[in-house]
Amino acid sequence: MKGHILIVDDEKDMLTLLDRIISEDTHYKTVTESNPEKALEIFRGEDFDVVMTDLKMPGMSGISLMEKIRQIRSDVSVIILTAYATIETAVEATQKGANDYLTKPFRRERLLVTLDKAMKWQAVIRENKRLRDALEKKNDLSIIGSSVAMANVFNRIRQAAPTSGTVLITGPTGTGKELVARAVHQNSNRRSKKLVTINCTAILENMIESELFGHVKGAFTGAATDKKGLVEEAEGGTLFLDEIGDLKPGLQTSILRLLQEGEYRPVGSVITKKADLRFIAATNKNLEQAIRDNTFREDLFYRLNVIRLEIPPLKDRAEDIPLLSYHFLNKYCVLNGKQIKGIAPSAMQTLISKQFPGNVRELENIIERGIIFCTGDTLTLSDLGLSGPEESFMPELSRENENTLMRFKQAKEENIRLFHEHYIRALLKESHGNISKASELAGIQRQYLHRLMKESHIEANEFRTLSTMK
Ligand SMILES: Nc1ncnc2c1ncn2[C@@H]1O[C@H](COP(=O)(O)OP(=O)(O)OP(=O)(O)O)[C@@H](O)[C@H]1O
Ligand SMILES: [Mg+2]
Repeated sequence: MKGHILIVDDEKDMLTLLDRIISEDTHYKTVTESNPEKALEIFRGEDFDVVMTDLKMPGMSGISLMEKIRQIRSDVSVIILTAYATIETAVEATQKGANDYLTKPFRRERLLVTLDKAMKWQAVIRENKRLRDALEKKNDLSIIGSSVAMANVFNRIRQAAPTSGTVLITGPTGTGKELVARAVHQNSNRRSKKLVTINCTAILENMIESELFGHVKGAFTGAATDKKGLVEEAEGGTLFLDEIGDLKPGLQTSILRLLQEGEYRPVGSVITKKADLRFIAATNKNLEQAIRDNTFREDLFYRLNVIRLEIPPLKDRAEDIPLLSYHFLNKYCVLNGKQIKGIAPSAMQTLISKQFPGNVRELENIIERGIIFCTGDTLTLSDLGLSGPEESFMPELSRENENTLMRFKQAKEENIRLFHEHYIRALLKESHGNISKASELAGIQRQYLHRLMKESHIEANEFRTLSTMK
């Protein structure tokens, strides 16, 4: 790591000593100055990562110097140097915003560790700023990604959106296919009309006709009134056929007819209606293989595969991971009412080296869980429940260790669930069943606690005492 350090101390010997140790043991560049006023001038002209300043100096105290420096640049790391006798003042200095302090005389290792910590903090802050700036300049599609692979996807979306061509979105699970479908609709001239999603896995075979096309009163037993189908609901807008690869063979024919003829007839009706729709379909299945296996109609595939959008797996665009991670960090900090400045470099490195299975959805889940467990101001490896690159438990996946991994994952999920349950019970016991108070104790939002309670089937009533029941 490159680094630039400004050292300020009125004792010239101390400056020489610090400068010598730092140049011998690190690659950081140092500037030393014994006069705090002059140091401030130097600071104005150069870009420093860390300022180390003595506490007691004639003319200006280390604290005032820190305050002035922070007015110029609020995110610089400051380490206060002080004689052992004034440790209380040093503690006060950290309360006033110094990152750390170093008591004189100090051991060489202590100096280097303190400096290393300040430098890492600085890296987090800078990365945080850079990524937040990048997020602010988020593209008009509301899809995060700065990789070349995603830039291609964005271009294809922009080209495809204004046309009326059917779009087929393919890619592994959790890569953002639904998000892409929404972006296509939002950027089309149908955006003021509805995007209606049909989850093809969930639809029952014998319900499809009436679900899709509606029915008239008396069409079948139980059809007491006329009912609009999804196609009519989407009129003028977009019909999104999600998980199209799971569509039962019988239903493939109905969909093909709708695509080919653009006409439909509500169940029990004699009148044919014209549909004005744009079709988007998505799947994580390999449809070409499904055709070879005779589980997907080839003619339906060709009708769908007009504009193909292939979403690459996250492992092929690891450079998107920092931006996505910060996007989810912001999102879940807001949702959970937490303030976390950034992600520790070691944690980010592990995320980038992708020591976890899955795609964007999995990354999102990991960050969400990490934020719940995080008690400090940066998200660390242990908050994320990941091990560092050196002790990685996940080598190349083979068939046998995939099963072990699955069991490990299940055990981990179960542990998290048990932890939640115990923790919530302890909180509610402490607050005598008062949910607002319990959420305050845990530093999480009330709604979030509510959700966790529901997941663990915990009732606040169990913990209410006579006095709180009144
Ligand atoms: N590029 C991205 N930017 C921001 N969020 C993303 C991105 N990609 C995915 N996500 C988020 O990840 C989650 C999963 O995305 P989505 O549901 O679109 O995946 P999918 O490809 O449809 O998965 P599946 O095949 O399992 O249905 C969602 O919460 C989504 O908002
Ligand atoms: Mg999906």
